Amino acid sequence: MIDLFAGPGGLCEGFSSIEDEKGNRRFGVKVSIEKDPVAHRTLLLRALFRKFPRGKVPDCYYQYVRGDINREDFLEHPEIKDAAREAATEAKCAELGLTPHETIDAWIRQAIGTQTNWVLIGGPPCQAYSLAGRSRLRGIDPEAFESDKRHFLYTEYLRIIQQFAPSVFVMENVKGMLNSKHGGMPIFQRILADLKEPRPDLRYQIRSLVVDGDALDPKDYIIKAENYGIPQCRHRVILFGIRSDIAEATTALACSPREFLLRKKFPQVSVNQALAGLPPLRSRLSKEPDSHREWLSALEKAPLSLKTWLLPLKSKIEAVMETAIGNAALNVSVGQRFLPMADAPGADMPRDLRSWVLDSRLGGVLQHETRSHMRSDLHRYLFSACFVVSEKYAPNLRNFPPSLLPDHVNIDDESVPFIDRFRVQVGENPASTVVAHIKKDGHYYIHPDPAQCRSLTVREAARLQTFPDNYFFEGNRTEQYGQIGNAVPPLLARKIAKVIYKFLTSPRE
Ligand SMILES: C[S@@+](CC[C@H](N)C(=O)[O-])C[C@H]1O[C@@H](n2cnc3c(N)ncnc32)[C@H](O)[C@@H]1O
Repeated sequence: MIDLFAGPGGLCEGFSSIEDEKGNRRFGVKVSIEKDPVAHRTLLLRALFRKFPRGKVPDCYYQYVRGDINREDFLEHPEIKDAAREAATEAKCAELGLTPHETIDAWIRQAIGTQTNWVLIGGPPCQAYSLAGRSRLRGIDPEAFESDKRHFLYTEYLRIIQQFAPSVFVMENVKGMLNSKHGGMPIFQRILADLKEPRPDLRYQIRSLVVDGDALDPKDYIIKAENYGIPQCRHRVILFGIRSDIAEATTALACSPREFLLRKKFPQVSVNQALAGLPPLRSRLSKEPDSHREWLSALEKAPLSLKTWLLPLKSKIEAVMETAIGNAALNVSVGQRFLPMADAPGADMPRDLRSWVLDSRLGGVLQHETRSHMRSDLHRYLFSACFVVSEKYAPNLRNFPPSLLPDHVNIDDESVPFIDRFRVQVGENPASTVVAHIKKDGHYYIHPDPAQCRSLTVREAARLQTFPDNYFFEGNRTEQYGQIGNAVPPLLARKIAKVIYKFLTSPRE
């Protein structure tokens, strides 16, 4: 497997997890390419982790992620050294489009060797296609929008297909790609046409993993993660390309094409199920002295903001707030890089998720540490989370008491784009999409428990994205959030990989 635009490695984590009956990995990452040096460090660390059979990762990995030894000592550790060298051959920090093609091609050629059955995975970056990014850029500078090179990063992906003709490929992207235009032409149609015939002598069938058939509508390529056991409503375009000669030789593809779709049998997984067992934490106060006492006293002032609110809802929310503030008195910890715990944190998760996420060797929870919030935001968070407890749905700014509205917001203005500016994740439902914006502020990712009154931690965001608890994100906290928001949920990637594996191992004529 070759992974382009690999980010922190969500997609390749899922693929790498496919094992045969003897526990051997069936997809080996041979090269993964990522330009961001910090995401690349995460990718490298995980590549190293995967060099060991499951359960056999040396203790020094756990010492490193817990913060007991530094990175240099870890990488020099005798039990790790060789694996670190191999991981560095696999995970490359390079910018596609900038790094010379000869260099990239030499890596891939050497990695593939004589293999003929291999997979290209990855998603060219999405900012230029994403709805928010598009309107912002188009508005600010239409010319820059038209010439934005990110429109064309997929051509780097295409170039690798042209050059190396993988048996199959899996390409992920945001939904915005379906509607984006360039020079008046729909980008998606052009990408599809290019992928169907990358060279005059090379053709691919471009299939959906959720809808069977030849005459597909663009939206048929959208995978809704929440339908496949992922605790998050994440809708992404995923293209499954099969080289025509292989597609034609695989009889099962014509006889029972539905075998090569994702199975939709999974019950929805809720936020509460995904976050099960993570220790409750309080947030911290920013722009003023912080302590548990001061934080609690800030919460105690929140009901004052309901004073002039005249809705009948007022007394219900006040009662919920009172209980929440009482419970908040117990939430003393703000968390840390590693929180030791006696039991593996997540016994209440669905089995599928539990076995995927938990690792008893960790002895606790990584990267579960809260952010600081301004007092005014604490009041908004507390109100919003209490509203959900009372009303069972997340409020938007129209449901807010006037005194909690941010400055300069006119909620009667239909065009207000930030009506959902404060978004509680409803505990009983899958989360809303975790996107890289989570690194900027946590307003869209408010924890469902009002007694914690805070945005999600890195580990909680990682749980909603189904990263295993032993997955460590390098960089500062902002960078960690960004990597998580960018990734394909590894458990979804695993489900996709199962389909691809089934296809690659189906008999051919
Ligand atoms: C959407 S993320 C990919 C997530 C990844 N598939 C996963 O599952 O974790 C896109 C990544 O492409 C990287 N990237 C953007 N432009 C790049 C380029 N020209 N060459 C290599 N990587 C690039 C970004 O830094 C980002 O991490």
